Amino acid sequence: MPNLLRFGVSLEKKLLNEFDTLIKRKSYPNRSEAFRDLIRQELVKEEWQAGAEVVGAITLVYDHHKRELVNKLTDIQHDFQGTIISTQHIHLDHDNCLELIAVKGPAADISKLADTLKSVKGVKHGTLSMSSTGKGLK
Ligand code: NI
Repeated sequence: MPNLLRFGVSLEKKLLNEFDTLIKRKSYPNRSEAFRDLIRQELVKEEWQAGAEVVGAITLVYDHHKRELVNKLTDIQHDFQGTIISTQHIHLDHDNCLELIAVKGPAADISKLADTLKSVKGVKHGTLSMSSTGKGLK
């Protein structure tokens, strides 16, 4: 593989054992792949902290019978239409809906949108999955 460099890492035996147990539980094929993922995770965290352009997924679970809530969620999403790439609505059962909102833009805008949606009264659960455009990652 081009540009593939090897380097040594010194670890206490106990820490290495814990790392091996962790990567086995998470189904990594080897230490190198697990290590790459840990590095990428930190780089993505840096992207978010630096306010870079990032991507993410917001999930919301709510009761659609609460009409004011549905209108409010729609109003908020229209205010952030430049940030929202796509929205998927899934009817979970008679009462509950799952909304998946794919977002791309400055980290601060995405965090603001996620916080605003999650804090609407009646939203049962909301999450923000913070990811990367992938441009800065190998
Ligand atoms: Ni629904």
